[in-house]
Amino acid sequence: MKHLLATDGLDPALATAVLDTAEELKHTLLGREVRKLPTLRGRTVITLFYENSTRTRVSFEIAGKWMSADVINVSASSSSVNKGESLRDTALTLAAAGADCVIIRHPASGAAQRLSGWLAEAGTAVVNAGDGTHEHPTQALLDAATLRERLGSFEGRRIGIVGDVLHSRVARSNIHLLSALGAEVVLVAPPTLLPAGVESLPVTVSHELDAELPALDAVMMLRVQAERMHGGFFPSAREYSIAYGLNERRMKLLPEHAVVLHPGPMLRGMEIASAVADSPASAITEQVRNGVHVRMAVLYHLLASEGAAA
Ligand code: NCD
Repeated sequence: MKHLLATDGLDPALATAVLDTAEELKHTLLGREVRKLPTLRGRTVITLFYENSTRTRVSFEIAGKWMSADVINVSASSSSVNKGESLRDTALTLAAAGADCVIIRHPASGAAQRLSGWLAEAGTAVVNAGDGTHEHPTQALLDAATLRERLGSFEGRRIGIVGDVLHSRVARSNIHLLSALGAEVVLVAPPTLLPAGVESLPVTVSHELDAELPALDAVMMLRVQAERMHGGFFPSAREYSIAYGLNERRMKLLPEHAVVLHPGPMLRGMEIASAVADSPASAITEQVRNGVHVRMAVLYHLLASEGAAA
């Protein structure tokens, strides 16, 4: 693997190999007092974030550190980006300074792809940590790792993705990955929060959450991305919550074995009730935990495995 830019077009065998590596790493580190492997000693990993983040940035940093890489965090707000430097010049600067891998989050869809073009000559690997409303592949991989752990397999499983699909790169990455791994994806959202061209995606679409819940093996709740909304996408937060929020009554409609996911950050009381987020069905904390192992696995496949840079 040379870069990880999207799950659209990602070979399911490679995705499965990443999930297997993550699982192995998780078991290797489990219960260890010193969580450090020498695998990426001498390699330099830079996170370059132009958008806010808690879990993604932190888990990439921990992943790099647990593998002994030197990890440097650059946030746009405190870098020369604030002096007007272009993304291309910033990227070339990081490569010239010695980055083996740049992990980028950017508000523009396609930014990670552009970066990979600019850094091709330098041989620097690029990981997309979220580009606009386009993709967030490591989130989908950690969601898949969590689902595989809880459900065993993807074949024949029905996964609901609920809420603001339109603005969600998490949804887009999950649609491609989960369907490629053999699951059936159902999008549940108001018509105003579905993307144009949804018919061409490998999904079924519903506007009725109550009708879908009894047949779902997992339900992934999405945050309503107010920062990307310009205009009225739904009448009010209260009405959205009544129609699409996962509350305690609705949770009872799910099968006993069903898993509840949320990529975070959660808006408790809006798309998910506290009692649901903190229930045994919820795998939200597990998602974060798996995020570290999955990102370790991604760095391994990019920088250390035999197939790296292939
Ligand atoms: C998501 C993101 O930034 O795309 N968060 C994350 O990475 N866990 C989802 C969101 O912001 O709602």
